[in-house]
Amino acid sequence: MQIAVYPGSFDPVTNGHLDIIHRASRLFDQVIVAVGRQASKEPLFSFDERVEIIQLVTTDLPNVTVESFDGLLAHYVHRKEANIIIRGLRAISDFDYEFQLALAIKKLDNNIETLFMMTNSEYSFLSSSIVKEIASYDGCVRDLVPPLVAERLRQKYQYQNNS
Ligand code: COA
Repeated sequence: MQIAVYPGSFDPVTNGHLDIIHRASRLFDQVIVAVGRQASKEPLFSFDERVEIIQLVTTDLPNVTVESFDGLLAHYVHRKEANIIIRGLRAISDFDYEFQLALAIKKLDNNIETLFMMTNSEYSFLSSSIVKEIASYDGCVRDLVPPLVAERLRQKYQYQNNS
């Protein structure tokens, strides 16, 4: 059985991520969406919130599971008995970092292949940060994230503005 791991911080999951998840679910027997700790970022949503949200917006994909992980991605992939990592590429600007990440992971575990999927052109500008910025100023994120995420963002920022 071919298992692929789609890692990310997903803070929050966007329509760009979902596009990759849907496409990967058609290519592999199982896709594990792996929510990882991004050391350099202070997340808006907790690990549990991010996992729950992704689970709720992927209920239509029976071969997609969602987990959080700590530690090195390469070690996590090995523990899951997988050898494929999926990464979405949005633009040329992503390539340098992704190239470094893929080679570093291969150095850690030569059995792991990183497969890059070009993002849907409709979402090539998208990132979780830009979505959060728009939502924080009460801007419309309707076409950028699933409705559930838009609602969770409204609740988060309404709470922050009222606290
Ligand atoms: N559509 C829209 N946005 C996308 C996207 C897509 N298809 N693909 C990536 N992005 C965005 C994300 O939203 C994120 O935006 P943000 O920075 O505004 O939050 C950004 O691109 C980076 O993507 P993401 O994959 O979430 O973060 P990352 O590239 O830093 O990787 C981990 C996160 C958890 C996978 C990585 O930090 C990790 O593996 N950590 C564990 C430690 C480790 O093993 N490190 C590697 C050592 S070799």
